[in-house]
Order: sequence, then C-alpha cells, then structure tokens
Amino acid sequence: MFKRNLLGICLPALAIGVFGALAMHAQAPEGKDVSWAFPVADKVQPDVDMKKLHQVPGSTLSLTVPQIDDLLNPPDWFPSEHPAPPKIVMHGNAPNGLACGSCHLMNGEGHPESAALVGLPANYIIRQMEYFKSGARKDPARMNGIAKQVTDEEVRQAAEYFASLKPTLWTKVVEADTVPKSRVTRGRMRLPAVDGGTEPLGKRIIPLPNDAERIELRDPHTGFTAYAPKGSIKKGETLAKTGGKGKTIQCTICHGTDLHGIGDVPGIAGMHPTYVTRMLYAFKNGNANGGLDQLMKKVVEKLDDDDILNVAAYVASAPR
Ligand code: HEC
Ligand code: HEC
Repeated sequence: MFKRNLLGICLPALAIGVFGALAMHAQAPEGKDVSWAFPVADKVQPDVDMKKLHQVPGSTLSLTVPQIDDLLNPPDWFPSEHPAPPKIVMHGNAPNGLACGSCHLMNGEGHPESAALVGLPANYIIRQMEYFKSGARKDPARMNGIAKQVTDEEVRQAAEYFASLKPTLWTKVVEADTVPKSRVTRGRMRLPAVDGGTEPLGKRIIPLPNDAERIELRDPHTGFTAYAPKGSIKKGETLAKTGGKGKTIQCTICHGTDLHGIGDVPGIAGMHPTYVTRMLYAFKNGNANGGLDQLMKKVVEKLDDDDILNVAAYVASAPR
C-alpha cells in the first residue's frame, strides 16, 4: 500500500491550477451526513516508495508511482485493447486540461470518486463539458477547471473516444451488514484500512477495490465490490420501475427499460453507486443545473436520503 502524491509529481504550474482546488470539499449537500458518497482525503497517509517499479498482470510495462499518477501522461497498460486515443485523452492540454484517461482511465470506467464515461452518448459528454464550462454543473475541484481549458475539438474527440468503448462488469453490488474498515487516499479513493478489520455498514454504500494495489496502479482489468445495506437493491428497484406511488418518476421512461439509455439520455446501469448518489443530490441542490438537468428535478424532489441510497444501489447493480 502506498500513498499517492498528486502534488509533487506534475508540472509546477499544475500546483496552482486545478490542484490548488483539490483540497476543496466535494459538493456535499449541507446539513446531511452522506459523507460516504463524498469522500474527503484522510489527513494522515501511508508512506510511498516513489522509485519502485510496478507491473500489472498481462502488461509489459514497468512504471513508478509518479509515472502512474502523472495526470498529463497516465499509464496505458493495455494499448491494444482500445482504439488509438486522441491526444487530449492521453496527454491533456496543459496546464489545466488534464488527460481524461488519468482519472477516467483509458477504458473509461473511472474510479468511484470520479465517474464512468465508458459508452456514454458522445453528445451527452459534450453537453456535460458545456455545463462544466459555464458552471451550470459544479465540480470546482476538477471538471470546471478542465472544461474551461480544453477546446471544442478536443472535447469532441474525447467524447467520441469514450462513447466508442464497451462497458464491463466494473462494480459488483453485494448486500451486507458489515464492511471492511477503510481509509481515503489523497486522490480521494476509498481503500481497505491498512490494519484490516470490519465495521457495521449502517446506511451507507461503500465501494472497495477487488485488488487495492492494482486499482492504485490504475489497472483497467480489476474493478470494485460495493457493499450496500440488506434489502436496498429491491427497494430501489421498486422506486425505479414503479415510481413508488408518485414519489418519483419511473427511471425506465427516460433511461430505457434496461437503463441503457435512449438517444442522448445517458445509460445509468452499472454506474458507480457513489457517483449516482452524488448526482441525485446534485440535481436536488442545483449543483447539476444545465438545461436538460431540469428533467431530473421532479424525479429527485421527493426522494429522501434512504430512497436515494436504495435507488443508487439498484442502479449500480443493474446489468450493463
Ligand atoms: C483530475 C481528475 C479528472 C480528470 C483529469 C478528468 N476528469 Fe472528468 N470527472 C472527474 C470527476 C471527479 C468527475 C465527477 C464530477 C462530479 O461528481 O460531478 C468527472 C466527471 C466527468 C463527466 C461527467 C460524467 C457524467 O456521467 O455525467 C464528464 C463528461 C467528464 N468528466 C469528462 C472529462 C473529460 C472529457 C476529460 C478530459 C478532458 C476529463 N473528464 C478529465 C475527474 C476528472
Ligand atoms: C423525465 C425523464 C427522466 C426520468 C423520469 C429520469 N431521468 Fe435521469 N436523467 C434524465 C436526463 C435527460 C438526464 C441527462 C441530463 C443532461 O443531459 O444533463 C438524466 C441524468 C441522470 C443521471 C446522471 C447521469 C450521469 O451520467 O451523470 C442519473 C444518475 C439519473 N438521471 C438517474 C435517474 C434515476 C435513478 C431515475 C429514476 C428514479 C431517473 N434518472 C429518471 C432524464 C430522466
């Protein structure tokens, strides 16, 4: 287990650009304890060996942690498994237009603290970049700065790249009463605690990597197990498919019967459950407020914290 050093490794200019804002809290709704969906880095982090070379199974590459965490030149462990990436995905547009393939991975699956772009409609991705750029959608620590720096042409190329990729089974949702104890890395990813142990899950969804070391290496061949409260998937399914007697609107109407999307409306099946949760709060509190986001307002209006958790557990467990 090693600590990530996002600040020390890239161009000095980055430290005052996007990274200057990295310490900012994610957009957690005020007055609620849904911190499980809005991870904040632990103050104390384990030490990391910056010189050690790392490999992932099946790849010929050997890379150090600073190379793996270089947000302007992320690792492409398996270049033959995806189309040739455009420059913006592999190398970004310095200083603030960071390479999309670093946080979202070259396979577009991303980690729970970011988002999956894999297989989203290209027009949807382009629209979100417009919302981030105008500030209609808020992610001040990362996407707002990135969207301001990149060109329309780069956005189009990135959108077409991620839209062309095929989703995999990336997050498996299991219902449980207890969960391994965890810690949050500097990059805000949740990993099993160094000293192990378990704790009650309570009303939370906790995604943990199936192989923490490989996930930290940004290996695209290993995903996550998300622990969700017992009964949450079924309750979420009822809300999603029936609308819960007027509590919400059936998700299937707009996102498709299998939640795989219709036209420009994105598929949501199999998305990171913490990301789905963050988005449902973002629609509620105005942090996602673009033109088409208005369609989600009525959907979330009457959902309480339990409903949101249940819907997120169901959506994340739906086959892609
Ligand atoms: C430093 C990490 C980082 C980099 C680099 C990055 N992103 Fe993101 N991206 C995020 C995070 C975090 C989110 C989730 C924001 C939120 O929760 O609202 C996100 C969300 C998104 C979304 C919204 C996804 C959805 O389903 O609505 C899009 C689109 C996106 N990013 C595109 C890009 C593109 C294009 C690039 C490259 C130009 C890029 N990102 C580079 C961290 C990053
Ligand atoms: C009336 C149509 C409509 C209904 C019903 C609806 N959605 Fe949506 N939803 C949308 C649209 C349109 C977007 C994309 C908005 C945009 O392009 O910015 C969206 C976006 C989302 C997103 C963000 C996707 C991403 O990639 O960031 C999530 C999560 C979501 N919806 C979940 C749900 C859930 C869960 C339900 C059911 C409880 C639901 N939606 C019902 C229209 C709808």
